Amino acid sequence: MHIGVPLETRVGETRVAATPETVKKLIGQGHRVTVQRGAGETASQPDAAYEAVGATLGDAAAALGAELVLKVNAPDATELAQFARGAVLVGMLNPFDSDTLAHLAEHGLTAFALEAAPRTSRAQSLDVLSSQANIAGYKAVLLAAHHYPRFMPMLMTAAGTVKAARVLILGAGVAGLQAIATAKRLGAVIEASDVRPAVKEQIESLGAKFIDVPFETDEERECAQGVGGYARPMPASWMERQARAVHERALQADVVITTALIPGRKAPTLLHEATVQAMKPGSVVIDLAAAQGGNCPLTEAGQVVVKHGVTLVGHSNLAALVPADASALYARNLLDFLKLVVDGEGRFHLNLDDDIVAACLMCRDGQLVRKNA
Ligand code: NAI
Repeated sequence: MHIGVPLETRVGETRVAATPETVKKLIGQGHRVTVQRGAGETASQPDAAYEAVGATLGDAAAALGAELVLKVNAPDATELAQFARGAVLVGMLNPFDSDTLAHLAEHGLTAFALEAAPRTSRAQSLDVLSSQANIAGYKAVLLAAHHYPRFMPMLMTAAGTVKAARVLILGAGVAGLQAIATAKRLGAVIEASDVRPAVKEQIESLGAKFIDVPFETDEERECAQGVGGYARPMPASWMERQARAVHERALQADVVITTALIPGRKAPTLLHEATVQAMKPGSVVIDLAAAQGGNCPLTEAGQVVVKHGVTLVGHSNLAALVPADASALYARNLLDFLKLVVDGEGRFHLNLDDDIVAACLMCRDGQLVRKNA
């Protein structure tokens, strides 16, 4: 097949959907690959590295006009206009963005959104949410250390002792667990909370303290089990008790990192304004849910703001701040996914009996197969 790797055009995007490592493998499998000039530059992958493994360099039209296009973000209108009808698109297309999916269908595409892959063992190697959330969790801690006006570790110096920073992590999924591990390496004292009781052990095994908000009703217990590994919105009664526990712990904290998401919905509010108001001056909040409405109502997406003496960081694409590794992992996720949709002769092959393929398929030959989740 002819595979295209365009330059990502979304503001702030630095990642690329294929690296010389994955392009070499695709060419080894008999495909022809066109990489748009400059596509890998911000991810530290120069054009020459792609050429060295056998790719052809071209312009946007050449990359977007391929039979199979590998992207990071969903194409905008200008990009979409350059796709060939009937082309196959693979990327992070946002399965909940029905307008974008409708546009992809109108252009006659067959499109796969990898965020929709099921959370199963077989899907782990192509799980883009995990590979990118892991990076976001790591970078969140480094950003916190950058904005925090004190040391993270406890230090005993000739000029006196410095106390270790106290870090509070709300939401202990992939990003939250990596944030715990990274903050631990920097010497912080960590507490973490999640709605899913199953994560208590994982939090503790990383050396953090679990903040328990016990369930009081069957409804609370049932909601907390989530669905397909994901959280569901919790009843107001539990959210209120959690807010009180968070308020109490946030007063002691120097850094709060929030990562709580509920697929397809606005992120839950976990850190209220009154809590931020009561936090110590100089404290830092990193809100990883900024792009989904934020876990704190004071967060401004894409901005760093200071409110009530607290620095709130609302960067909405943290993985793009670690572009070389984010691209390397993402590109390997795509390569693994392609194994499911390309047959032994190197042709596109749609096997809807495969649960991963069926879940990721958003539109097929211009027909929307997933209107919205
Ligand atoms: P996510 O990014 O959707 O959410 C982040 C975290 O926020 C989750 O742990 C969630 O429980 C938590 N959260 C939601 N509402 C909350 C609230 N009100 N208070 C506190 N915390 C709240 O989740 P992520 O990181 O994508 O992982 C979801 C699950 O999928 C995890 O159980 C993870 O272990 C599992 N998983 C399984 C994989 C596989 O088997 N292929 C791969 C990756 C993750």
